[in-house]
Amino acid sequence: MGNVTAIYFSPTGGTKQYVRAVARGLGKAYGEVDLTDKETRAQEHTFAPDDLVVIGVPVYYGRVPQLPDGLLRGLRGNHTPAVLVAVYGNREFDDALLELSGLCEKQGFYGAAAAAFVAQHTFSAKIAGGRPDADDLLIAEEFGRNIKALPAEKAGREIRLPGNRPYRSFQVAPFTPKGDKKCTACGACARACPAGAIAPETPRETDAKKCIRCLACVHVCPVHARRVGGPVYGMLVKKLEKELTKTEKEARLFLP
Ligand SMILES: Cc1cc2nc3c(=O)[nH]c(=O)nc-3n(C[C@H](O)[C@H](O)[C@H](O)COP(=O)(O)O)c2cc1C
Repeated sequence: MGNVTAIYFSPTGGTKQYVRAVARGLGKAYGEVDLTDKETRAQEHTFAPDDLVVIGVPVYYGRVPQLPDGLLRGLRGNHTPAVLVAVYGNREFDDALLELSGLCEKQGFYGAAAAAFVAQHTFSAKIAGGRPDADDLLIAEEFGRNIKALPAEKAGREIRLPGNRPYRSFQVAPFTPKGDKKCTACGACARACPAGAIAPETPRETDAKKCIRCLACVHVCPVHARRVGGPVYGMLVKKLEKELTKTEKEARLFLP
């Protein structure tokens, strides 16, 4: 095995934790590419056939987050194996792994293994709150170890992923986070926004056309000045909490 790289888009940190745990399980020192960062996304990252990447995204509306600049556009695989990771907030991952697999193929990777893991829902700490916990991360690490231990005749075989084509239609929620009077204009939100939807000069505002509703800005604000308000969001959160707090889902692992 050549170099191992942990690649993730993770506005509120759940996906990052899982991708790192899988990479740890592969048992080698690994590099990182954080696609949450706009500049990192714009750079080229090239991988060799004997390298191995772990690529993780959160699930948005049963899909891969849609960024206008193309989430994986800077990644260049050369028939490089990829461990595909989708992290979701206890509803479902629907077509996300299948879509991630298609996007990775276009960039020169092939899916060597895949997993869907549960993390706290971006919109409510009551949904899968505190996950990934220590047990979740042990499972992800063990998954990495199992990939490493795959016998040569199995490694490289196609994996079968759930999901449908055409993929579910991607929705855009009718709310955006905004800053209130507590905002000190420190600029942390503008730097953290993966979509460039917050101008550093006017950090209380959000460009609704660019915003992907990931809440990275809410997560990073040191004085808790940013939040989503309004009745539509309140109703959505209540509905999600009612539907998604009865049982907690477990990891789904796909090996050849
Ligand atoms: C816009 C948006 C849409 C989401 N859609 C889904 C979904 O369809 N299914 C689900 O289970 N969780 C959904 N979630 C929850 C996230 O997938 C989950 O919280 C994930 O852990 C966030 O990853 P991160 O912590 O790396 O940012 C959604 C979150 C956001 C912000």
